[in-house]
Amino acid sequence: MNNKITIAIDGFSSTGKSTVAKQLAKHLGYVYVDTGAMYRAVAYYAMSHGFIDENGFDKVSLIEHLENVNISFKFNDALGFAEVYLNGVNVEKKIRTLEVSKFVSTVAAVSEVRHKLVEQQQQMGKDKGVVMDGRDIGTVVFPDAELKLFMTASAETRAQRRYKELVVRGDEVVYNEVLKNVQERDYIDTHREDSPLVKADDAIEVDNSNLTLEEQFSVILELVNKTLNK
Ligand code: DC
Repeated sequence: MNNKITIAIDGFSSTGKSTVAKQLAKHLGYVYVDTGAMYRAVAYYAMSHGFIDENGFDKVSLIEHLENVNISFKFNDALGFAEVYLNGVNVEKKIRTLEVSKFVSTVAAVSEVRHKLVEQQQQMGKDKGVVMDGRDIGTVVFPDAELKLFMTASAETRAQRRYKELVVRGDEVVYNEVLKNVQERDYIDTHREDSPLVKADDAIEVDNSNLTLEEQFSVILELVNKTLNK
């Protein structure tokens, strides 16, 4: 008992993985790692360097420049979570736009990108006491994680949540475009060759379409406590 564990949270986009991961990390005094932010930061780098846009993707140039991509996290006391930095610059806000969401799945499908980020993620979680969310945490990054959760919710529920988040941020977005983006990312994330999004055999599925945040947290906390007391 009281040994630190690794908690892997995977699932489709906008299933509330990061919300519950942050709650858990705070409650347990664990480190939270948002791996989606790392893929978003690489996508943002590719966009800023003109390697990807509406007209195409220069995958070769991105791979050539990968060694210049340095991603780090720095805890923000006021926010209560770690923000993501790209080559020393805080890009936390810049990576959350619909524009980045449009290209991130394409960038995340590149094996060289995945290899680099998975290695960094394994390093970050090597001492346990970590809650990591993403698409391949329970299958690839930490296949031996003591607790694996797989979050699901209908595409419409997720698009509604994402739409509200973007509107609150002040972004001008159309709901149907957000829904389309959620569905397109689901497709690319589940159909890519390298580490497609799949539920690990030993992951516990949590469908939160009809759960409030409080209900979801209490369901998951019970699973955590059971694992800790094993
Ligand atoms: O969790 P998110 O929506 O911020 O993730 C952004 C994208 O990054 C998502 O479309 C898929 C990709 N991703 C991934 O391939 N593997 C991860 N471990 C995390 C995210």
